[in-house]
Amino acid sequence: MNKLITALGILVLTGCGNKPQPAPAEEPHRPHFHFTPEKMWMNDPNGMVFYEGNYHLFYQYYPDSTVWGPMHWGHAVSADMVHWQHLPVAIYPDSLGLIFSGSAVVDWDNTSGFGQDGKPPLVAIFTQHLMAGEKSGRNDFQYQSIAYSNDKGQTWTMYAGNPVIGNPGIRDFRDPKVIRDTASNRWLMVFSAGDHSKFWSSTDLKHWTHLSDFGAGWGAHGGLWECPDLFPMTMEGTGEQKWVLLQSINPGAPNGGSGTQYFIGQFDGKNFVPDERFAPAATQEKAVWLDYGRDNYAGVTWSDVPPSDGRRLFLGWMSNWDYAQVVPTDAWRSAMTIPRALKLKYTHEGPRLFSEPVSELEALRGQAADVPKGEIGGARDLSDVTGKPVSAKEILLELEWDAGQTPADFGVELFNSKGEKVRVGYSPADRQLYIDRRESGNMAFSPKFSSKDLAPHKTAGQRLQLHLFIDVASVEVFADGGACVMTDCFFPTEAFTGLRLKGAGVRVVSGKVWNLNKAR
Ligand code: FRU
Repeated sequence: MNKLITALGILVLTGCGNKPQPAPAEEPHRPHFHFTPEKMWMNDPNGMVFYEGNYHLFYQYYPDSTVWGPMHWGHAVSADMVHWQHLPVAIYPDSLGLIFSGSAVVDWDNTSGFGQDGKPPLVAIFTQHLMAGEKSGRNDFQYQSIAYSNDKGQTWTMYAGNPVIGNPGIRDFRDPKVIRDTASNRWLMVFSAGDHSKFWSSTDLKHWTHLSDFGAGWGAHGGLWECPDLFPMTMEGTGEQKWVLLQSINPGAPNGGSGTQYFIGQFDGKNFVPDERFAPAATQEKAVWLDYGRDNYAGVTWSDVPPSDGRRLFLGWMSNWDYAQVVPTDAWRSAMTIPRALKLKYTHEGPRLFSEPVSELEALRGQAADVPKGEIGGARDLSDVTGKPVSAKEILLELEWDAGQTPADFGVELFNSKGEKVRVGYSPADRQLYIDRRESGNMAFSPKFSSKDLAPHKTAGQRLQLHLFIDVASVEVFADGGACVMTDCFFPTEAFTGLRLKGAGVRVVSGKVWNLNKAR
């Protein structure tokens, strides 16, 4: 009410109520094809489920401010994960608390009994966070609750028996992800507690049994474990069945702040056991990361993607708790990453997850041009290959150097007339991929933002493939078919208009640049 009175007062004082409003200026950091809320604060993707032709994306949302606050689930739908339609807020806090992160499933067999007229319900499983409990110094203010929808996720009814998993006195006890385990005809849930993951099972989504915990002695523990995901995957080439556990952690990521580590192993119906060939890479504080950039956090995969499609589709929050609440965007804060398809492959270092941009993104491709082949020769200007500005581009490059040579680092640079730049590079001597945003423009909002972010990446021989998606204020890099991935945001004070290749002793074997159209 107070807000309404203030707003009316401003209208009277400025007289704006009578004048036609000017068209809103183009927001300088608004991405062209990444998902952003129209306004206000967003964090983690939640409740990602495919149902009747639509990908649903719910997300942590605070409708009253551009900084984090009492959490709701915002909602959007898309037929292709690229073009999104914004829908009204889906789930509101109630007397049990705020609506924190969680997941959603289609309950095809109506195991919950929430279905209507022979149609399966959508069931959302999330953490509720009771502010009053936290303020009073208790430790049991987070617990798992469920809600159901019989109208394709538009309206939700809270289950009267909430919470479905109460809190035994563990402060951080959150972010349930549920999957249907077809082998055992049960629902499996994974969520995070402190710096561990917990596994539970249920036959009806209402009654849950604790199975086991995972984490002691495995992976990175520099912060809280949050937003896990557990799913089976088939190994490309061998057809072996493995289980993958994604486990976000904040802080404790390799380049600082928030990040997502993962484990590959077996889930025997009770325990998750990392694979022998994966284990050496992820024991005792060592970890393997889904994305080595600063800006991919709390990502999980879509539920109920039809078996005929068969992809394991992933989306992350393209920000970092180190500075998420102070980035220089006005009307809204944060974007999601582009959707990615995860693949499981053996590498010379053991089994690994690969991330590839989904093929649906090709629908955005506009004007295309080839990058001339041959030696980079110091610096090669690409600004005019497909025209300026370089705001939204896809770049695919095959680069090569001579056997026995170790060229100095090389890569792709975005720049503007003010000398601001972002470089995506590779250092053959260090065997590291990197994104350097130390001169990227506005960085004054946080001392933690400026960084050169590194990712270990051994090329097979003297060849590197780089696949880049640039979108106004972010770059996502997929090296060698998604074997190594980095995602970083940046905020130049003037749009980047320049694009160049830098390097010596390195050849372009093939290269293409596309302008990408707006998805909004
Ligand atoms: C991760 C997280 C979750 C929590 C949510 C609250 O970014 O901290 O653990 O559920 O955000 O908005």
